Amino acid sequence: MDAITALHTRKAAPRLIEPAPAKEQLELIYKAALRAPDHAMLRPWRYLVISGAARNKLGELFVAALEPETEEKKNKLLMAPLRAPMIIIAVSTITEHPKIPAIEQVASTAAAIQNMSLAIHALGYASIWRTGAVAFDDKVKLGLGLKTSDEIVGLLYLGTASVEDRPVPELDIDDYFEEWS
Ligand SMILES: Cc1cc2nc3c(=O)[nH]c(=O)nc-3n(C[C@H](O)[C@H](O)[C@H](O)COP(=O)(O)O)c2cc1C
Repeated sequence: MDAITALHTRKAAPRLIEPAPAKEQLELIYKAALRAPDHAMLRPWRYLVISGAARNKLGELFVAALEPETEEKKNKLLMAPLRAPMIIIAVSTITEHPKIPAIEQVASTAAAIQNMSLAIHALGYASIWRTGAVAFDDKVKLGLGLKTSDEIVGLLYLGTASVEDRPVPELDIDDYFEEWS
């Protein structure tokens, strides 16, 4: 798939099934992340790749951290990581820097997530970028082996899209772009 087609046709897939990308394809996806723009080359990213039984452990961590009050909420958290065969948790490891604020380091990680989602799409797979309470919870961060100063910018769920695609939303260019002079 050429780059422009990939950019114009990528869409989030909420329901993902096996197969996930194979090892060689994952390397291409990871390399796409490593080409994210990065002010001052701080390399402010780190990625945790979770698949198989580790997804159950992740669900248990979500429950232990968020302490849901109802059985329904507990089950939802337990099942959340099983919505895809693989999850890449993209983390911004924020470095104190005189010229590069944290927001730029998070922006670099966001760009890396989008690079990965485009690579995933170009290879014939699908993904969805999620966050939610689990992404902002200090106990989740510590349970993942992160520092509380780290930012979880996204959980990228990936695999094969399980339902027939919805159409790509068509936005009007003129609603968002204007000449400024
Ligand atoms: C930072 C960020 C966090 C997001 N978190 C969630 C989320 O927790 N749950 C969700 O359903 N979609 C979330 N989304 C939106 C989806 O990834 C997706 O963009 C949305 O469903 C629209 O689909 P599209 O990307 O095909 O336009 C998030 C997007 C961003 C950029």
